[in-house]
Amino acid sequence: MTDIEILQQPFTLPCGVTIPSRIIKSAMSENDADKGGRPSDRLIRLYERWGKSGAGILISGNVMVDSKALGEPHNVVIEDETYLPELTEWATKAQQEGTQLWMQINHPGRQAPRINKEIVSPSDVQLPMKAMFAKPRPLEEDEIWDIIEGFGNTAAIAKKAGWGGVQIHGAHGYLVSQFLSSLTNLRTDQWGGSLENRARFVLEIYRNIRKKVGADYPVGIKINSADFQRGAFTEEESLQVIKMLSEEGMDLIEISGGTYERGAMMGTMQKESTKQREAYFADFIVKARQVTRTPLLLTGGFRTRSVMADAIRNDELDFVGMARPFAIYPRIPKDFFEDKMDKIAPVNLKTGVKFVDKMGFIDLKWHTEQLHIMGKGQDPKLKLSVWKIAWKTITTMNG
Ligand SMILES: Cc1cc2nc3c(=O)[nH]c(=O)nc-3n(C[C@H](O)[C@H](O)[C@H](O)COP(=O)(O)O)c2cc1C
Repeated sequence: MTDIEILQQPFTLPCGVTIPSRIIKSAMSENDADKGGRPSDRLIRLYERWGKSGAGILISGNVMVDSKALGEPHNVVIEDETYLPELTEWATKAQQEGTQLWMQINHPGRQAPRINKEIVSPSDVQLPMKAMFAKPRPLEEDEIWDIIEGFGNTAAIAKKAGWGGVQIHGAHGYLVSQFLSSLTNLRTDQWGGSLENRARFVLEIYRNIRKKVGADYPVGIKINSADFQRGAFTEEESLQVIKMLSEEGMDLIEISGGTYERGAMMGTMQKESTKQREAYFADFIVKARQVTRTPLLLTGGFRTRSVMADAIRNDELDFVGMARPFAIYPRIPKDFFEDKMDKIAPVNLKTGVKFVDKMGFIDLKWHTEQLHIMGKGQDPKLKLSVWKIAWKTITTMNG
């Protein structure tokens, strides 16, 4: 089979749902909801465009389960059925050509800026960026169960609105990650201590969602290969949790890595040689494949069509995820399939000023801006000034 044929092959998940192609748009937080976390017309317009991209699945940016716990300003928040009409329109427009729309569901825990009145986490371990993130309050037992119920309710609403599936955000240092890591989870009750206890939170979330959406609805998770911090969630622990989740019946496991403190998901931790090889977590996925037959999705660094096809050809993984390329080439799967492109050229997002470049968030903000541009119905701007983004970010911090 040619590279194009491999990437265009459909794939059937354990729940019985068939995904039309092997390229997936990974989650990118759009930060473009209307007041109160209402899905905006801009968001729907953006996904209508991506819906024509030929992607197998479009995973939404993280949708919050609690309006008192925002990861960023302008997150979509789904606590009840208030926004069912907007969610239904979003799903209908995005899925017109058979691409599936999945909702990424999240609670930020301690990785929540000071726009929130109070922040919670398994324990009171504060992020080092103290100006932006307050000290969290440890969750009470009944609050933990409320959040688990919140994930389930949000998933059930996504299904009711016609979304193709849901993904638990279990990566990047948010609440699920915080429970998994012994650096942020110092609890001595049934939610902390042994890995079995630390994994209880994510397992209960999965069970609650599954109970509410049924056996034939796709449920996935994004999980870290590791947190890349001493004393935090390790590769060995991640492999064990992947095994536990697979035994529960998970449909799709997406591998990523890192936290706010350690930006591995965006390639900032990797050696130049790893970046050259693409796929930041390629070594780990091979290990994951040995402990599970649950379908695997790998995200982070993929830019070349032949590298993606080879990873599938070699049976290392089933799906290839891309995030940033979709922000600048919104029909990238079709561009590959129609042989209009075979790789994505790197974009230089350095200002040349060390302290600005070290801040690391320019990459994130520059790509977010592209999503906003598309939300207004315009084409992405490859020449968008990095300086403009740096200035905008500094002057609107904590906004
Ligand atoms: C603007 C932006 C927002 C992101 N938001 C999320 C998010 O909400 N949830 C998530 O799991 N990952 C998020 N990510 C991480 C991506 O899903 C992906 O893991 C990372 O960008 C590496 O993939 P890439 O090299 O193809 O961009 C975001 C990345 C970017 C650039």
